[in-house]
Parts: sequence; structure tokens; C-alpha cells
Amino acid sequence: MAVITTIEDLRRIYERRVPRMFYDYAESGSWTEQTFHDNSSDFADIRLRQRVAVDMAGRSTASQMIGEEVAMPVALAPVGLTGMQHADGEMKAAKAAEEFGVPFTLSTMSINSIEDVAEYTSKPFWFQLYTMKDQDYVSRLIQRAKDAKCSALVITLDLQILGQRHKDLKNGLSAPPKLTAKTIANLMTKWSWGIEMLGAHRREFGNIVGHVEGISDTSSLGAWTAEQFDPSLDWTKVEKLMEQWGGKVILKGILDAEDAKMAAKLGADAIVVSNHGGRQLDGALSSIRMLPQIMDAVGSDVEVHMDSGIRSGQDVLKALALGAKGTYIGRAFVYGLGAMGQKGVTTALDVIQKELDTTMALCGERNVDDLGRHNLLIPEDFEGRWQDTPPAN
Ligand code: GLV
Repeated sequence: MAVITTIEDLRRIYERRVPRMFYDYAESGSWTEQTFHDNSSDFADIRLRQRVAVDMAGRSTASQMIGEEVAMPVALAPVGLTGMQHADGEMKAAKAAEEFGVPFTLSTMSINSIEDVAEYTSKPFWFQLYTMKDQDYVSRLIQRAKDAKCSALVITLDLQILGQRHKDLKNGLSAPPKLTAKTIANLMTKWSWGIEMLGAHRREFGNIVGHVEGISDTSSLGAWTAEQFDPSLDWTKVEKLMEQWGGKVILKGILDAEDAKMAAKLGADAIVVSNHGGRQLDGALSSIRMLPQIMDAVGSDVEVHMDSGIRSGQDVLKALALGAKGTYIGRAFVYGLGAMGQKGVTTALDVIQKELDTTMALCGERNVDDLGRHNLLIPEDFEGRWQDTPPAN
């Protein structure tokens, strides 16, 4: 068994183990994938300030996200089709998160249903909501999340329509996979994945199949989003959803200071600075590059979280030092899950926590909550290069 020391180690095992169409689904961005790549590579532009002769004993990565205690401020992001990356993937990832002490967010587009995950875990998880044209279905979904005692609703704002991902179209992405000559040839090389999948609780979208009518093809994410997602979602509708939920709300997919102000005005408990992992608006700036100006605009009014591009504890540290109170990993935990199930998710979390802790110590800090811009060396043009354009409103 290979010694795993990085998230990239997990990605390599994952690539070998999981059918190509699901690997490609995770490991891609929209159109040219510029934003997808920038999300990770822009972290490298920020450097760290080394401090020495600081007492490093008694360090802690523990903090809080929306008032919940977390072993480190790194939640598992909502990721569609997680249960296709590994049998019962959402249940396994939620369990790993619960045992580690970090939040798990279940996607509307999950394979395991809200109820499956609630039954398999004992602590509340977060539920991510996509808004659909079918209001009754949305109301029922919200009620199901309430019944499952989810402790926060994460409303995604950047996917009313799906950004085009070429690989998914070319692969004919579906859950379960449709059997064509190409998929059969690939599945023949993925025996362990297939055998485990035969024993899975579900192989279809657990939150829709049997709960919503009028979808021509329930196995296709593309068909579902095109037919069902509400393209008319606006701030008034967001406010109504927040009222309907009545509990803690996280608004996800904010990449602009004006939108951040609007979300703060609505009374969100947190916002997530995110471009959906580069899967939606290709050509948008990376989340880490947008984070400072969003912090400047709303940092004192609302808790700010960040996702997109995080593959290491050092990336987490940089986001926290720029002011984020919490971060999310999506692909980084999916690599672990696809590579070795629940144990792989725990390994991904371990890798990230170790990197975060060691980096924090070498920066001369003992607590994640004390991290700040004083820990970073940021090039002058990190934000400046795009600042000449007046902000749109
Ligand atoms: C759905 O959330 C996706 O990005 O595919």
C-alpha cells in the first residue's frame, strides 16, 4: 500500500479506481477550464511569513463555523453524484466528517437521500438546496431537511443553469452509468468499484427519484437541471426560501462585493465566496483572488467562508489568514472517497489538518483564529490587476 502524504496521492489512486465518467465529472471545469485551474494555482501567488522562536506548544486548529464547534474550519462541500464515486458515498463521507468533527454538506444532487444520511449519522449535517421551478417539490425538500434535523441550509446561487462541461457531454454522464460500448469497456477495468456498487443503498439521485415528476430522464444531471432548475431565482425568492427554512442559512456562490452586500443585508448567517470550483462561469476570477475585496466589503457584517481550489492545509491557512472564518473542500475529499471510501475521506482530512497545523506553527501561530494578513506576503498586484474596472451594481 502506497504511503499517502498529499491530496495528490489520493487523486492518483482515485483516478485508477473510479469509472472515467465520474472521475471526469469531478476533475473538470466549464468551457476552457481557466477558472478551474486558476482557483488552485492562484494560491501559489500568496507566500507565507516565517516567524521563529515562538512557543509552539498547545496548538489548536479548532474553531467555529456558524456557531458550530469544528475540529478545523474545513467543511465538506456539497458535491453532486458523490454516491457514484464510491458506493454509499454520501453516507460514508458524512460519517468520516462526523467522526473528524467537521461539517458535512449534502448536495441536492446526491445519490444517497437526506434520510439515508440522517439514519447513518448521529450529528446534524448541512443540506444544500438548488431551487426548482416546482415549488411544491422545493417545499417538500426543505421539510425533509427539517425533519432530518439538518442544522443549516446552504442555498447555492450560482447554478440556475448549468455551465457547460465538455467531458460530461462527451461521456454521456448519468447515474447510474448508461451501458454503451465505451462505458462497458471502461467499467470492465473497475471491478472493485463495481462490486461495491452492487451492494449500495442507491444508484440513482436519491433526493429526486420517487419524489418529483415530469423529468424526462432522471439519470441525467443535464436533463434534470435544464428542465427543473429555476432560472428566475432572484433576491426576493432567496429571501422567501430563507423565511421558509427559518433556521441558519449559508448563501453559496458569491463572487462579487455587491452580491456579498446583498446577502449580508438579507441576514445570511454566512456567505461562501465561491465560483463553484470553476464549474460555472469560466473566466471568473479565482475565489482566493476575490476573497480580500469581499472581506473588505462585508467582513464585519457577515461570516465569510470560501471554497474553490483548496487542495492543502496551506491553502486553508491562506484563506483563513485573508479573513475567511471557514473553508470547504470538494474535490479533495472526493479523491479520498473514490480512492478508499470512508477511510480515504478521513485520510484527506488528516492530510489537510496536519499541513494546516504545521504551517500555522512555522508561521508562529498557535490558534487558527489568530491567523491574519500579518501571516501572509501578498504581491501588490494580487487584486490590483483587475481593480481598474469600476464595480458594477
Ligand atoms: C453540481 O453541483 C455540479 O457542479 O455539477
